[in-house]
Amino acid sequence: MDFLSRSELPEDRTIESLRPDGFSSYVGQTATVAALRIALTAAKQRGDAVDHVLLYGPPGLGKTSLAHLIAAEAGTNLRTTAGPALTRTGDLAALLTSLEAGDVLFIDEIHRIPRASEELLYGAMEDRRLDLTLGKGPGARVVNLELPAFTLLGATTQVAKLSQPLRDRFGLTFHLEYYAPEELQAILERSAQILGMNTDAAALAAISTRSRATPRVANRLLRRVRDHATVDGMSLVHVDFVQHVLELLRVDPLGLDPIDHRYLGVLADQFDGGPAGLQTLAHATGEDAQSLEQVVEPYLLRMGFLDRTPRGRVLTPRGWRHLGKSPKPGSVAV
Ligand SMILES: Nc1ncnc2c1ncn2[C@@H]1O[C@H](COP(=O)(O)OP(=O)(O)OP(=O)(O)O)[C@@H](O)[C@H]1O
Ligand SMILES: [Mg+2]
Repeated sequence: MDFLSRSELPEDRTIESLRPDGFSSYVGQTATVAALRIALTAAKQRGDAVDHVLLYGPPGLGKTSLAHLIAAEAGTNLRTTAGPALTRTGDLAALLTSLEAGDVLFIDEIHRIPRASEELLYGAMEDRRLDLTLGKGPGARVVNLELPAFTLLGATTQVAKLSQPLRDRFGLTFHLEYYAPEELQAILERSAQILGMNTDAAALAAISTRSRATPRVANRLLRRVRDHATVDGMSLVHVDFVQHVLELLRVDPLGLDPIDHRYLGVLADQFDGGPAGLQTLAHATGEDAQSLEQVVEPYLLRMGFLDRTPRGRVLTPRGWRHLGKSPKPGSVAV
């Protein structure tokens, strides 16, 4: 696993957890947070559950963290599962019938929910009703169960893979945005305090600008800087030290890491800037197509280094400049 691993690691769940513990420590996403606060307050006043919420956006931007906050703020239980785990409708039915009024059922990676379970969700979401078919053949019968008022909270990195009927059943849908450097710096200040680090503002600013606009990456880099500070016996982490560590980790000044460089390098050198298909690039870089598409490419697109065209991925002039290279004369690349 690479050191920047963008998925959740056990360290997210240790006593040194850097997850926000209330809306006050959840930085940024102001429009989403404001809308959720109104929904929570209104639901509380009506004595009802918050309407179903769909959160989507790239990994590490705070979807799971928001799920925890919503349940905490509502003062209810958060029950967590994930789309791929719901292969048996019986498991989902058991989960739904065990909910208490107001509970939040968090389904991560909801785009990967199997079809039969998805269909069971329709009635549960819309009418708080569970239609279960018991038995098979002529003896089969349908039982209707009433469910308590609950909130379904779905999270996904790939909203396009959600079916329209499922999407339509969410009353509140939010797209999480990438973070500004100042927001990441505020997150890092709190994290440094939790981790007992003595840092200066410039040091945290240097991390924030190399964190791919993503809190998870910022916190991960901070932990790696702390490791080096511990080993080197640095009591105060200053900006030069951060830069030194980031160079060791091969994170460039724009936050691109070795995988990004390999991707861009392959596109430039083997395909002369493209167009090249996703699968082809996956083979050539030795990465799997899904992580290229969901994690590597979004940031490169955002930086303007890459274009997705109907014929494949293309390196942009900015991308070429960042690599310090240029396309071969006469090539099709833009
Ligand atoms: N708005 C925020 N304020 C403070 N910290 C944040 C915020 N968003 C995320 N974080 C930090 O980043 C880490 C990753 O966030 P989280 O696990 O919520 O992301 P996610 O969107 O669920 O990612 P994935 O798609 O991979 O499940 C959290 O543990 C937390 O420390
Ligand atoms: Mg998550």
